[in-house]
Amino acid sequence: MPHTVAVVVGSLRKESFSLKVAHAFAKIAPPLLKLQIVTLHGLSFFNQDLEATPPADWVSFRETIQKSDAVLFVTPEYNRSIPGVLKNAIDHASRPYGQSAFAGKPAGVIGVSVGVIGTAVAQQNLRNILAYLDVPTLGQPEAFIQAKEGLFEPDGSIAAASKQFLQQWVDRYVAWVKTYAT
Ligand code: FNR
Repeated sequence: MPHTVAVVVGSLRKESFSLKVAHAFAKIAPPLLKLQIVTLHGLSFFNQDLEATPPADWVSFRETIQKSDAVLFVTPEYNRSIPGVLKNAIDHASRPYGQSAFAGKPAGVIGVSVGVIGTAVAQQNLRNILAYLDVPTLGQPEAFIQAKEGLFEPDGSIAAASKQFLQQWVDRYVAWVKTYAT
């Protein structure tokens, strides 16, 4: 039985490295994972005043998470934290209070940035949020990817230098999902 995974990409940029890593991940993920790459274009700001009558874009994002067996976050690092669009999306799916769409769903966190620490601080911030939301998040290995020349092959796959590392990460993530997904 395949497990559906919402791959939430925390950048809206057309040429986003995070989006490219999400696609590269999809190329090496086993058929057991049915990946849906979720970008956050069109998801409006959360406003608690509208919780009783949520707009269609809120409902749609929330349902995407709800229907998934697992989540994979691909986060950029903005000012040593996660981008506002990603925090906004997490806030959406965490509501209404007590009915978080994330609760109990296994998650993974990876990230890519031009900086040498490769989103390490953003990922740590994200892990704090996910811990509060009761999301079992794969701890090891960590994946801090630096966006350097030659990271990707022309077809979008990860080049040889990082391929084995990413494959190992994928294998651990699959095992994590199998353990927790219902
Ligand atoms: C950044 N960037 C950045 N990089 C980093 O390693 N640590 C940081 O704290 C920040 N802060 C930051 C803030 C803002 C507002 C921007 C726009 C950028 C650089 C960032 O890693 C780079 O732009 C990535 O390419 C963003 O990810 P995507 O859009 O390529 O997925």
